[in-house]
Amino acid sequence: PAVEPFVDEMPRLPVVRGDRLELVAETATHRFHRDLPPSPSLGYNGMSYLGPTVEHRAGTPLRLRFANRMTTHPLAADMDTSLHGVAESFRTAPPSSLHLHGGVTPPDSDGHPEQLVYPGGDIDHDFPLAQDTGHLWYHDHAMGITRVNVYAGLAGMLLLRDDFDTGEPDNPLGLPAGEFEVPLVLQEKLFTADGRQSVRSTPVVPEGGWEGGAVGDIGLVNGKVWPYLPVARGLYRFRVLNAASFSVWNLFFGNRMRFWVIGNDHGLLDAPVATHELRLSPGERVDLLVDFAELTPGETVELRNDEAPVFQAAILGEVAMPRFCQFRVEDRPGFAGGLPARLRGGAGLPPLLPPIETPTVIRDVTVSQPYELRVPPAIMSLNNLTFSSPDIEMPRQGTVEQWNIINITPDPHPIHLHLVTFRILGRTPLRTVDYQLAHPQPPIGQKWAPSAEGFLAGPMMAPQPWEAGNKDIVRVDGGTVTSIIVRFPTAAELGFDPDAPFPRRVATERVGEDTHTGHRAPDHAGHQHDDLRGYVWHCHLLDHEDHDMMLKYRIVR
Ligand code: C2O
Ligand code: CU
Repeated sequence: PAVEPFVDEMPRLPVVRGDRLELVAETATHRFHRDLPPSPSLGYNGMSYLGPTVEHRAGTPLRLRFANRMTTHPLAADMDTSLHGVAESFRTAPPSSLHLHGGVTPPDSDGHPEQLVYPGGDIDHDFPLAQDTGHLWYHDHAMGITRVNVYAGLAGMLLLRDDFDTGEPDNPLGLPAGEFEVPLVLQEKLFTADGRQSVRSTPVVPEGGWEGGAVGDIGLVNGKVWPYLPVARGLYRFRVLNAASFSVWNLFFGNRMRFWVIGNDHGLLDAPVATHELRLSPGERVDLLVDFAELTPGETVELRNDEAPVFQAAILGEVAMPRFCQFRVEDRPGFAGGLPARLRGGAGLPPLLPPIETPTVIRDVTVSQPYELRVPPAIMSLNNLTFSSPDIEMPRQGTVEQWNIINITPDPHPIHLHLVTFRILGRTPLRTVDYQLAHPQPPIGQKWAPSAEGFLAGPMMAPQPWEAGNKDIVRVDGGTVTSIIVRFPTAAELGFDPDAPFPRRVATERVGEDTHTGHRAPDHAGHQHDDLRGYVWHCHLLDHEDHDMMLKYRIVR
């Protein structure tokens, strides 16, 4: 359907605070746009789409009760029961798990993809949140149906604050706060001809089948199609999250004005970094300062995108989804402060970011689409393995490792590790074809992660200055080796055992199929792995993590 941009005002997501909170996932109907009919959707706490923004103080624990009160699922027909872990019963009794992305969380509260809560059930998660400030987010992580659960609405933000990053009481860094700090949840969406949200992007794949990525042609901000936001003439702080299924975006303002990046996944940079554009992949967060004082009252400016997905652009000729929202400059004074010169280092400021540590272990891992399944039913893979593979990475507690993430596909994949944070070392171009010819990829299920040494096509490119600091997700560009430095914490540092088993089933069940009882059906490589230890690491493209670009890893003693 044709939808007119900039007719709905951008919603401000409600804020919740407290040391004990509840998030209730519910079936709803949501109006994405003035001219679209209400569409079946999912949301938390009575919201018809997405969830409230949780504001919380870093260092204080949060007990969060997650309850699944879904009745029907808006995208039940799109669940693909050929995917590992997906049961037919999910269509009528959709399970969910709740994961706090970026949280340093004990295994039993991590909302593991197999830690399913069925309708009518609930679980208490204990989040210690003994960690730095940051821009976390929560979302569904249910095995095999994350792609439809998150897409249908199950996501929200959690902002971790401290004295430097609260805006209250004295706001030592002078950051825009209150009305002038706005979370922006950016998403892409497809609609059916009759205006319902749809996860189907191509007629090539049979109805209800896994597609590999729902590339939307319409942009959403905070759950509305192409909304507008009235702004005062002053500085704004935008907490931006790419919560999309598939697309990496190159974000810029329509008038090409400069803006500043002041932070990303886990806190503030040393100083604001000026830029005119930046790329943001699904799961990544970025903290921006934008100055509307330079514009005249009545002027409008759009937040735009000019990056199209590689595969879709090449094969289907799709173009970039062009825009997200419009800012309308009003004739009123805005935030009184100016751009902070520094955010860290010096008197009264947080300490500078520490230098990147030297690794003692080098680990090579691969991102690929295994050859024999390249046509539907396709599969995406890490290390040429499937989710239930026992052949997992087992870094040692207290060790600093360099992970070389070797992406032999042409597309970018955002790779995310649970529990830990890391620093980005850089990206090195790979002679992909030579690498593959020298190291033929075995059948799916046999680990394949040969070193890329000897197949590099140039020097390592430094990350962008705004990619400094602690990250939990990194964009791994097509045909690159992206290197990160990860420190795996000890149980003593964490205050919990990261290698403890987690309980798989946590809630009332209305279903009795084998995937829920511990006798899991074998996965696509024939593995039946029932070890309940370990966190997951995965690609954050929702279709990819569901099938099967997600593995467990254990942080062992
Ligand atoms: Cu944003 Cu495994 O998650
Ligand atoms: Cu991927």
